[in-house]
Amino acid sequence: MSGGIVVAARGLTRRHRERASTPWAPRRVTTALEDVDLDVRAGSAVGIIGESGSGKSTLVRLLLGLDTPTAGTVEVDGRPVDARASARELHWLRRRTGIVFQDPYASLDPRMSVGRIVGEPLWALGIEGDRRERVRAVLGDVGLEADVAERYPHEFSGGQRQRIALARAIVHRPGILVGDEPLSALDVTVRAQILDVLRTLRERDGMTLVMVSHDIGVVQNLCDEVVVVKDGRVVEEGPTEKVLLQPQAAYTRRLLAAVPVIDPGV
Ligand SMILES: Nc1ncnc2c1ncn2[C@@H]1O[C@H](COP(=O)(O)OP(=O)(O)O)[C@@H](O)[C@H]1O
Ligand SMILES: [Mg+2]
Repeated sequence: MSGGIVVAARGLTRRHRERASTPWAPRRVTTALEDVDLDVRAGSAVGIIGESGSGKSTLVRLLLGLDTPTAGTVEVDGRPVDARASARELHWLRRRTGIVFQDPYASLDPRMSVGRIVGEPLWALGIEGDRRERVRAVLGDVGLEADVAERYPHEFSGGQRQRIALARAIVHRPGILVGDEPLSALDVTVRAQILDVLRTLRERDGMTLVMVSHDIGVVQNLCDEVVVVKDGRVVEEGPTEKVLLQPQAAYTRRLLAAVPVIDPGV
């Protein structure tokens, strides 16, 4: 499953200049991400962990060209990502990638049927072919019956809605799927089911996964590499087993102390 580098970040830095409370007060600068290098291999699954506010969302937004770095570069498939480019210029990137967020409800338009929600990227990206059939197939991939296409988001539970959001994220068959805490709002059973879906996408379709999670279990189940971020910097990275079982950084050890890591060798 290993291959070339599909996502490469170098010196990625993102600062925010906060609005001053008064005109004469100095404007505070927050550093959300500082000098991060990252390589994602084709077909791999990379987990990004770190406590709240450590810069995980900032990192994935920058990787997808949804935010502009203060310094540093991102390349996807060796092509530079410029978040300020026009939608037309970013078409290749949107087609190549998919994203799923934590809150499935916020990302689903309540006035649109599930079929329209899931199929919309096909129209937006100008993907030809039997779109209805594609939607039907992708609903199957995420474990939903084809007839849900006629229904509306409010008719579904949180877990089902996250399946819908995932279907929308993969309907155009992106080679790279990014998740920003996609399983965090779900109960244990649903989480396990969606983990299965993600594993299948990876094994069957060779999809590359980049998953932000504060759930170590998710990372352990799904990812073969882990990147640990703290205060906007990468403090540790490596193969999942190594990082989870023999963490080198004190921060990683603290992060893992909160949850039991099951030794896969036992
Ligand atoms: N638009 C913004 N304006 C100011 N600060 C921000 C903004 N976005 C993120 N930050 C700050 O950057 C840091 C990293 O945020 P984020 O990437 O959302 O962390 P995480 O996803 O790991 O919780 C936090 O301190 C956050 O407050
Ligand atoms: Mg976040």
